[in-house]
Amino acid sequence: MPPPMPLPKQSHNSVQVVLSCSSLADSVQFLTSELGFQVRMIMPADDPTVAVLSAADCVLRLEQTGAGAERPAPARLRILSDELPTGVPRVLEGPDRLSVEIAALHSPLIVPETIQEFVLTRRGAVSEWHAGRADMLYRDLIPPRLGGRFTASHILIPTGGPVPDYVHYHRVRFQMIFCKNGWVRVAYEDQGDPITLSAGDCVLQPPEIRHRVLESSEGLEVVEISCPAAHETWSDPGMTLPTGRMAPEREFNGQRFVCHVARKAIWKASRFPGFEQRDMGIAEATKGLAGARVLRSYGDAVAGRRGGTSTIAHAGEFAFYFVLSGATVLESAALGAHDLSPGDSCVLPARTDFAIQPTAGLELLEVTLPAELPGA
Ligand SMILES: [Fe+2]
Repeated sequence: MPPPMPLPKQSHNSVQVVLSCSSLADSVQFLTSELGFQVRMIMPADDPTVAVLSAADCVLRLEQTGAGAERPAPARLRILSDELPTGVPRVLEGPDRLSVEIAALHSPLIVPETIQEFVLTRRGAVSEWHAGRADMLYRDLIPPRLGGRFTASHILIPTGGPVPDYVHYHRVRFQMIFCKNGWVRVAYEDQGDPITLSAGDCVLQPPEIRHRVLESSEGLEVVEISCPAAHETWSDPGMTLPTGRMAPEREFNGQRFVCHVARKAIWKASRFPGFEQRDMGIAEATKGLAGARVLRSYGDAVAGRRGGTSTIAHAGEFAFYFVLSGATVLESAALGAHDLSPGDSCVLPARTDFAIQPTAGLELLEVTLPAELPGA
């Protein structure tokens, strides 16, 4: 196989989609009058059979087939505009079975209804992880996806160094990243110089904030939680990061960017008996949509205590726990008793009593929607 031949970067390139047509005149007429394409080239002048047309960043080359040739294959165009309302796309039929779909640039964000269920995921050997993009290894922490509403991934970059990322953004309702191990340098839109997230730190990535991962340590581990599970990631080649601006109060789709630094955190009492917590500022930045905290047991005073811990239940949409350090037991009349070790995680369904033993050395990441879980 010949080697790939990338386009030269410094020249003016044009990529054309070549379509056959049975009547060049009919196709040019349709594309120019109905869709606003402009003719860039046409030949020969006395009896045209080839034309190049463009609209936005699409370039079409039409080639008229000769008499007796096979009927041109059907083609499909999608024309998207941010000035069109979302909804059912309009479909136009052009010559030679050309189908044209006209729709809003961004489809509405679809957030499926939550399916409440108990999901317990154990940390396995690294060999059980699967390869994702850019040399990253992934472990799915919520394989059932709760009806498609949530996804959580444990991501590992075994080898450090520059990360081959590009400026991009995610169309989400909620997304956060917790750094579990190592460090990673990331640039965020209008948040000043690139930041370095270290173990215990956390960021809230508001919907559609532009960002780019620059570099990581070896053995970087992060936990990423998103809603909905399936969402679009768009590149933004028109933006360079960092932008040189610092606008911490800027809202992106109603949410502020947050970078929580563990070493500056203040520990306060938790609603869980035997635990204290550091709040990571996500509740305030999302106006109550979501909350994230690190819980740690008070330690020796309750070390090894089994039983007697109050059970709680919630009536929220999402309650996720990831064991950062230590070992404990999750106890529930409905779900049974489960030993939990570092790297294990669980989703606890609504209206189900449970207790987590505050054993010595235990630290848990807790992520909830809404920020303050209503009691069941
Ligand atoms: Fe991203």
